[in-house]
Amino acid sequence: MKNTTNLSFSVFFFLFCLISVTSDLEADRRALIALRDGVHGRPLLWNLSAPPCTWGGVQCDSGRVTALRLPGVGLSGPLPIAIGNLTKLETLSFRFNALNGPLPPDFANLTLLRYLYLQGNAFSGEIPSFLFTLPNIIRINLAQNNFSGRIPDNVNSATRKEL
Ligand SMILES: *[C@@H]1O[C@H](CO)[C@@H](O)[C@H](O)[C@H]1NC(C)=O
Ligand SMILES: *[C@@H]1O[C@H](CO)[C@@H](O)[C@H](O)[C@H]1NC(C)=O
Ligand SMILES: *[C@@H]1O[C@H](CO)[C@@H](O)[C@H](O)[C@H]1NC(C)=O
Ligand SMILES: *[C@@H]1O[C@H](CO)[C@@H](O)[C@H](O)[C@H]1NC(C)=O
Repeated sequence: MKNTTNLSFSVFFFLFCLISVTSDLEADRRALIALRDGVHGRPLLWNLSAPPCTWGGVQCDSGRVTALRLPGVGLSGPLPIAIGNLTKLETLSFRFNALNGPLPPDFANLTLLRYLYLQGNAFSGEIPSFLFTLPNIIRINLAQNNFSGRIPDNVNSATRKEL
């Protein structure tokens, strides 16, 4: 009787873990699809029937998306609100595309972000100060864009910035 209880508890716990892992990756997947659908330029040819971790430019660790690297793939237009939902993201690269408009405010939610490469686009507007107060940021490259204004004063001096 006790063994049965333990066994059903284990099975339940296993399923619970499986579901929570799956649903977080599912949220990552939805965010990636929102990005794909919202951005202009050359389409991102991701096989939506396959797991998101197999998609071009997407890298996962422990079942979550930790890196998104889409350098020079012909993306244009403004970035939609989507990337802020990739809550385990550590590396984000959109360098050398033709993206424009302001940086979306949901970037502020990327608290694990370490590397941000946005150089060689046409982003405009003020550089949001929250970029420089992301707690884990190591490197930011915003060079060759069309930002106005100046680098905020509260920039973390440990962060390597190329603006
Ligand atoms: C982002 O997450 C919020 C809260 O879970 C959800 O309401 C929203 O639809 C998500 N957006 C995208 C683009 O996945
Ligand atoms: C897309 O992924 C599914 C599932 O992995 C696979 O069966 C199918 O062949 C893939 N399609 C293409 C066009 O690669
Ligand atoms: C950041 O995440 C929080 C909690 O998930 C959410 O309520 C908020 O809307 C997000 N902010 C942005 C700018 O997406
Ligand atoms: C950069 O901004 C200026 C002034 O707002 C504008 O005239 C110019 O067309 C922009 N350049 C690009 C490449 O977007």
